[in-house]
Amino acid sequence: MKKTSLFLFAGFLAVTAPHRPLCAAGPAREARNDRVERAIDSILARLTPEEKIGQLLQYSGRWSDTVVNRGITLEERALIRQGRVGSFLNAFGTGITRELQRIAVEESHARIPLLFGLDVIHGFRTTFPIPLAQAASWDPAAVERSTRVAAREASAAGVHWTFGPMVDIARDPRWGRIAEGAGEDPFLGAAMATAQVRGYQGRDLSDPTTILACAKHFAAYGAAEGGRDYNTAEISERTLRDVYLVPFKAAVDAGAGTLMASFNEIDGVPSSANKHLLTDILRNEWKFDGFVVSDWNSIGELLNHGIAATRAEAAQKSLEAGLDMDMASDVYRDNLPALVKNGKVSAKILDTAVRRILRIKFRLGLFDDPYRSCNPETEKSEMLTPSHIAAAREMARESIVLLKNQSDLLPLRRDTKTIAVIGPLADNRHDPLGPWKGLGEAKNVVSLLDGVRNAVGNSASVLTARGCTISGTDTAGFGEAVSAARCADVIVLAVGESMDMSGEAGSRSTLDLPGRQEDLVHVIMGTGKPVILVLMNGRPLAIPWEAEHVPAILETWFLGLQTGNAIGDVLFGAVAPSGKLPVSFPRTVGQVPIYYGHKNTGRPDTSNEHFSSRYIDLPSSPLYPFGYGLSYTTFSYSDLTLERQSLGTADTLRANMTLTNTGQREGDEIVQLYVRDLAGSVTRPVKELKGFQRVHLAPGASAIVPFSVPVASFAFTGLDMKKKVEPGSFILWVGPSSVGGEQTTFEVVER
Ligand code: NOJ
Repeated sequence: MKKTSLFLFAGFLAVTAPHRPLCAAGPAREARNDRVERAIDSILARLTPEEKIGQLLQYSGRWSDTVVNRGITLEERALIRQGRVGSFLNAFGTGITRELQRIAVEESHARIPLLFGLDVIHGFRTTFPIPLAQAASWDPAAVERSTRVAAREASAAGVHWTFGPMVDIARDPRWGRIAEGAGEDPFLGAAMATAQVRGYQGRDLSDPTTILACAKHFAAYGAAEGGRDYNTAEISERTLRDVYLVPFKAAVDAGAGTLMASFNEIDGVPSSANKHLLTDILRNEWKFDGFVVSDWNSIGELLNHGIAATRAEAAQKSLEAGLDMDMASDVYRDNLPALVKNGKVSAKILDTAVRRILRIKFRLGLFDDPYRSCNPETEKSEMLTPSHIAAAREMARESIVLLKNQSDLLPLRRDTKTIAVIGPLADNRHDPLGPWKGLGEAKNVVSLLDGVRNAVGNSASVLTARGCTISGTDTAGFGEAVSAARCADVIVLAVGESMDMSGEAGSRSTLDLPGRQEDLVHVIMGTGKPVILVLMNGRPLAIPWEAEHVPAILETWFLGLQTGNAIGDVLFGAVAPSGKLPVSFPRTVGQVPIYYGHKNTGRPDTSNEHFSSRYIDLPSSPLYPFGYGLSYTTFSYSDLTLERQSLGTADTLRANMTLTNTGQREGDEIVQLYVRDLAGSVTRPVKELKGFQRVHLAPGASAIVPFSVPVASFAFTGLDMKKKVEPGSFILWVGPSSVGGEQTTFEVVER
């Protein structure tokens, strides 16, 4: 490092050290923030307009043609030297990031460290279950741990920033990106968002083992019409606020340093030009002081949306709306210089955006140590460690949901002699990595077949056959699969989706098992042998036939590296399954969108009344409801009591309920608390999740499960568009899913 830059960084050290946790409160934090703002003032004073605009640019080569694949080009070196780039996307690895950073802090006039961003969605090298699966654990502490591992590995490879958590509520399983989020519910979504932000960012962002979180996609991207990716979201402001924004607010409250604007429009305004979202709500109401990045080329796409006639207009609209960093469209780079020069865009707005980005670079400690996580030794030692692999197995076990277990077919008996592991996902090491697999590699995946073999050792013989591919039409392999099935005592049949059928641009128009897999299930069932269906998929599938005919069904999603071991643990009873669905499973795609927290309507489907809100050819209920999941033991719920039946709006509702393990095995139960606000100034959902707890019980044991729920959490956006709790009568349930449970009532009164 040159002398000048040493001096420069020593100066910054004085303003930022010592580091304190993000949560440090009061005067200490204010003084620290003050010092950072003054340091930013002096940086802004010495930057040229071009260098300022450079800070707003996130650069990436083409998707498959990044600095990592082909090294740094002369053009890229020049770009950094000229201070015309603030962040790199898809640059990772200590070698490459150190060199890029060296050019930025030693060879540029601006000497501002670069920020390296990468999609670390469910693990870096140690691939964890996809986020939807992790949400099925209903275990925020486990999710925080898995996210922490991802942060440790990614940061050790020079990554500063992940584009996660994805906190989009998704109520339409046709939308492939449902795999990346926590499902349909704002309360569960908020809990998962908080856990992930904490896991990524730790207690102090300047800790080099943390990475910066980015809550995305702001906002309502999951409400894409028809479940078609990138499509329009046509929702009301009230639904936006009470459903879709809830996990974003939680992420901001947990300290997320950045947000990503979504591709979609809401009510005619694409998010990348949406001042109401990016400024009124995010900055003015929520007091968010980090920065917002666009999605890939989303500023450029304002022209396709038809809200900007030129790229210059797109640049102006986005910056003025509050969008700070341009990911990959180059619209800011190409247009802001002239717009600022001729006064069309005010220098003040530009400075505000630059300030937000620099603030986050300070919080990451990059001005103290621009190479904060660039250590080749750590890069080697942090990856795929035994403790990371163990965490992945633990998370995967908790993510599995037992949908059906007729006659206690599961767990499999230890004395089973011959097991056939059949299906296109039986010995598949690629697809269980799931969409956004990061740097996860198939060679490190334990397939289901491996896992079954690991579990049985020499005590049983394991046969296998693929039967068919995931989406092909060829049934030539059916014969071999049937022969294997006929020789076995029990069949584990693994069917589902390929990894690229969900995730970005992975929308489907049906929710059926793709290809000939449904037929494979039929022929295997035709052998008359006991079958355990293992589903691997990135979204709810519609499997009414299987639900009726196959005796045991495990929903395993995409579980990542430890797929086979985790499923083996469950199949043979090393652990009892404990996951619960974070999203409703429809009977058929025709029921979509389907979610438990719907409105009652004037003609609810509560009877056989013809003129009610229902289908004439199908029940309105889902195949498996939100919150549903079985165990190898059984639980009973009793003695639901409330401390008080009448509460003020500022009170806390306290409920107790007795949970008893009524079965023969130990197990975890996820106890769920729901409320219904019976009448309001606007209509309310029929049920809303407001609390949950994971409880472990030995056979025969009982525990009192206490809940404390602030009455303030029953607030909603009323007729006056203000969010508040309205007095009135409520129903409360505590139970094993969004259906059923013990029930009581309470009143909220004005006091
Ligand atoms: C587009 C995706 O929508 C977003 O989620 C992702 O973070 C960016 N590409 C960057 O890869």
